[in-house]
Amino acid sequence: MKKQSQWKSSTGFILASAGSAIGLGAMWKFPYMAGIYGGGAFLLMFLLFTIIVGLPLLIMEFAVGKMGQTYTTKIYEKLTQKKWLNIIGWNGNLAVFILFGFYSVIGGWIIIYILKVLGQLIGLSSGNLSSIEFEAIITNPWLTIMGQGIFILLTMVIVMMGVEKGLEKASKIMMPLLFIFLIVIVVRSLSLEGAQSGLRYILQPRIEDLSVKGTLFALGQSFFTLSLGTTGMITYASYASKEMTIKTSALSIVIMNIVVSVLAGLAIFPATEAFGFKPADGPGLLFKVLPQVFDQMAAGSLFYFIFLILFLFAALTSSISLLELNVSNFTKNNNEHRARVALIASVLVFIISVPATLSFGSLNDVRIFGLTIFDAMDFLVSNILMPLGALGTTLVVGQLLDKDALKESFGRDRFKLFSPWYYLVKLVLPLVIILVFIMQLI
Ligand code: PHE
Repeated sequence: MKKQSQWKSSTGFILASAGSAIGLGAMWKFPYMAGIYGGGAFLLMFLLFTIIVGLPLLIMEFAVGKMGQTYTTKIYEKLTQKKWLNIIGWNGNLAVFILFGFYSVIGGWIIIYILKVLGQLIGLSSGNLSSIEFEAIITNPWLTIMGQGIFILLTMVIVMMGVEKGLEKASKIMMPLLFIFLIVIVVRSLSLEGAQSGLRYILQPRIEDLSVKGTLFALGQSFFTLSLGTTGMITYASYASKEMTIKTSALSIVIMNIVVSVLAGLAIFPATEAFGFKPADGPGLLFKVLPQVFDQMAAGSLFYFIFLILFLFAALTSSISLLELNVSNFTKNNNEHRARVALIASVLVFIISVPATLSFGSLNDVRIFGLTIFDAMDFLVSNILMPLGALGTTLVVGQLLDKDALKESFGRDRFKLFSPWYYLVKLVLPLVIILVFIMQLI
């Protein structure tokens, strides 16, 4: 018999979708992007986009999932009776496939750091945390490929176990712990000598630092952190029970994401300035700066180790949602084939992830429109496929779905702002996304 995955409670749903959202996007990507595109100015744009574009889109994706109750390469047909619209689901599927490919590179770095710090803790290697050489790690092909292999393997094993089991319960402890750790790092980072200028860098929006490119990347960042446009959130909402609260869940996820992004910024930039790093250092920023901060704490290595485990956990709850989307689409929600599909998808992801890893080393000279393979994959996903997917869904929701049925899907979670939200999704957001696309081409 076909058995569709279901969350047991709406808490399960909210924990899982928050898990999907909060991950490398908020903690690793936000600071590195903000460091390149103007600090406070980037933060301001990111906040605006997250609230004006991201939140309504997340509400939309939850509503679509709740109404459609099926996998996302079928859901559009089910809701509109138009089969060709399933292409939006396939677009999302492609997006998460590529996303997982480069996400695993960073997941792999975390694993390598965990092993290195563990080595120091048990006395296999000497030196302090700052002596771990980032460049030597990311340019070492076998080490990085092993790291990302382990990351993909961990994700695969968890997904094979099914949605009900596994991480939801653990995330009730791990996520608050991660939050506490972030606050501790912020406090330590802010108390460093020279921290003030870093604090100003991230909190003070300097209008002259606002660029068209930075604005586009800020929008891409909102999509990325909220997992939008990939239909990943639609999938999770389709597993949810009738009692799931669309508006409240979306709002809490957006708030948590903003808080974690801002905390990551407050943890990184004061220390970046204090230790003389450049904010525009790129994807390695967090990995270079944080060891220095922990070196300034008592029992820093141990705390850094615990932090890395929590960080890995947050990354895994996101990568799980990436693989889960492929599994739910290719098994058509039939749990019988779960394990096989998870295995095949993971092997394919591993294959495409290798060039992404090597683009930090031997393949660094290979450029696609001037971008490294890693950056090109990220750009394709965050700035093209995710906005395209979201655009498709806004058109379906605004033009094809019945407004009353849509309203009903909110159920007991009454939504006073339903009408403004609806017209925003129907009339404004598609235009915003199209405009951004045109700007990107120019
Ligand atoms: N939102 C996740 C993060 O910030 C990444 C993600 C994107 C997960 C799309 C699922 C779907 O880390």
